[in-house]
Amino acid sequence: MKGRRSLRLVMERFGEQLPQIVTPPPGPRSGELQARLERCEAPNLTIPGMAIVWEEAAGSNVRDADGNVYIDLTAAFGVAGVGHRNPRVVAAVQQQAALLLHAMGDVYASDQRVALEERLCALAPMPDARCFLATGGAEAVEIAIKTATLATGRPGVLAFGGGYHGLTLGALAATSRDWFRQPFTAHLSPAVVHLPYPYPYRFAGDEQACLEAALSRVADLLARPAAQPAPIGAVLVEPIQGREGEIVPPAGWLRGLRRLCDEAGILLIADEIFTGFGRTGRLFAVQHEDVIPDLICLGKGMTGGVPLAACVGRAELMAAWSVAGEPLHTATFMGNPLGCAAAQSAIAEIEERGLVARAASLGERLRAALEKLAARHALIGQVRGRGLMIGIELVTDRVTKPPATEAAWQLMAACQRRGVLVLAGGMFGNVLSITPPFVISEAQIDAALEIIDAALEEVERAG
Ligand SMILES: Cc1ncc(COP(=O)(O)O)c(C=O)c1O
Repeated sequence: MKGRRSLRLVMERFGEQLPQIVTPPPGPRSGELQARLERCEAPNLTIPGMAIVWEEAAGSNVRDADGNVYIDLTAAFGVAGVGHRNPRVVAAVQQQAALLLHAMGDVYASDQRVALEERLCALAPMPDARCFLATGGAEAVEIAIKTATLATGRPGVLAFGGGYHGLTLGALAATSRDWFRQPFTAHLSPAVVHLPYPYPYRFAGDEQACLEAALSRVADLLARPAAQPAPIGAVLVEPIQGREGEIVPPAGWLRGLRRLCDEAGILLIADEIFTGFGRTGRLFAVQHEDVIPDLICLGKGMTGGVPLAACVGRAELMAAWSVAGEPLHTATFMGNPLGCAAAQSAIAEIEERGLVARAASLGERLRAALEKLAARHALIGQVRGRGLMIGIELVTDRVTKPPATEAAWQLMAACQRRGVLVLAGGMFGNVLSITPPFVISEAQIDAALEIIDAALEEVERAG
């Protein structure tokens, strides 16, 4: 068996390999680079203790500076859906780099920007869409908030507890975690208000009651416009909350929000920066409920790794940007040609290789296997998710559900030591987030599951 595995290692290309730890991570070269980083970078920009430094990545593999090869179950925050260093994306970026690296934002567009925007308008869930490109997800969210403000004349936004929309000041107003907000409270717009997101695992009642409780809070708030700090023009929601713990709302949540928005005459903004482009097993997560949002924010997996994001919306709403004079929003790198070329090739990969369907089927298989682990490990309170967006919520007691935050970090470290990268997250820091590239192989999934199993055993034994 051992012999067969090592023969396979020799034959497998980097990208499809199983873990190979040659030096216990973090190794000396990573340690040295980390020490240099600490001397030149603002402190606390990388999580202490996880200090491996990446040198190369392809497919579902990452190689660190000490030559250790990992299976990446994070896809680097969900970005590498088409796999790290996807050859088609790399070729498109190389070809574009030889032609035009940078165009001129709101003054001179590039041909790549035209082509990508046509593509995004054609793919968007709303008919007759228009596009507004951004450099990162937070900016795309801010463009959506600005669009809603211009189009409705009502600056108020209803967002949700556990929502993560980015950390620049405008987006931070909609992000809910107090840790990120507290030092900057004075800069955060009071026009953004929050209500609880339906979190079935932590709700005292069944899914239907959880759904009704959350929707009735929204209905109550929208019924009292005069009581809000600013008139509400839009509801901003993640179809599945990502960074705060892969929280899957009960069926009917998005449809319920759509109905309440229509009744109140306000906009529904879907933040699909994490869920979009196949991650949940549909091209966009709103499609699970056949909901058409007014605006949709896209990023992360859209390019396979080059910074670019977008806000796409109904043409009638996007028309609100058409004021006489200079564009009301732009940025130096808006619509960067490299990003536009990368996005077109990543989208073509997703479509032509059937990666959305693959995310759906691999996700089911992976969730079922994780459920089996849950039956053997008391630390696992719940396995949940859709497609290849899976959360494992860890608790110290399955009945009272206290978050096992420390165990989540220990598990992340134990997996890393064995050659698997997972991310601990969630609003209590106790959810292991599993969001691998869609191109991950079944053999890699099986190897990663064995490692998670062993890491769970280690953490449970120590705890
Ligand atoms: C749903 C969602 N919205 C917005 C953002 C912010 O994107 P960025 O980090 O590119 O600013 C993120 C990032 O994790 C996200 O998950």
